[in-house]
Amino acid sequence: MSTIIYAHRGASKLAPENTMPAFELAYKHGADGIETDVQLTKDNIPILIHDEQLNRTTNGNGFVKDITYDELKQLDAGSWKSYHYKDTKIPTLDDLLAWNQDKQIKLNIELKNNIISYQGLEDIVCQKLGEYNMAEQTVISSFNHDSITRINDKKINIDYALLTGRRNKALIPYSKKIKAKGIHISYRLLSNRLVALANDNKLYVAVYTVNSSIAINKAIHLGCHALFTDIPKLAIDIKKRR
Ligand code: G3P
Ligand code: CA
Repeated sequence: MSTIIYAHRGASKLAPENTMPAFELAYKHGADGIETDVQLTKDNIPILIHDEQLNRTTNGNGFVKDITYDELKQLDAGSWKSYHYKDTKIPTLDDLLAWNQDKQIKLNIELKNNIISYQGLEDIVCQKLGEYNMAEQTVISSFNHDSITRINDKKINIDYALLTGRRNKALIPYSKKIKAKGIHISYRLLSNRLVALANDNKLYVAVYTVNSSIAINKAIHLGCHALFTDIPKLAIDIKKRR
């Protein structure tokens, strides 16, 4: 089994995170997949942005949930990273799914509903994946385990995984109970023992966010199913050399 390399928010070390240029660059660098974060605008459009507030990665202010899609389209989500990316827009989930039609790389869609609770986010994302016929190469994840439980309740054919950054004894039994495919854990939690325990319970382990050669090599060496990195080129090169 070869570790899947997901570009975390796209090739986000070099390009503005969660934008089409970051996804393009990840694809160009040979990433196996894209990890991205989805939230809803005031008018319920699924858009790709990590923070609940617009301040850090755009020239806007306030919460994503309080802005309409038309207002959001006016924002510049690139200049904060580099002038070269001036006027880059925040993509919608549709933009990503349409872009991936001719590429068919893997997607990890993280439901960013652990701080803000977006009513209906699970339904909207699952419906879009169906519309674009892209459920098969997608895994949905969330730190909000109730949200992942709601995906399980739908009894649809899509993979999902629980995300965690903390030690949590209930994680593996609960993942099994809700028929998750795997656990997505912080690199800080990664150990041989945890991978063995997860695998014994028929769960895969994916690890975030690994940006150094040492961490990438460790994730691959321990048999992680996938890793998330801001520098997909580095991880792909390491994987090739091993
Ligand atoms: O999905 C892995 C990772 O993206 C989770 O943390 O804060 O980067 O969304 P964060
Ligand atoms: Ca994420």
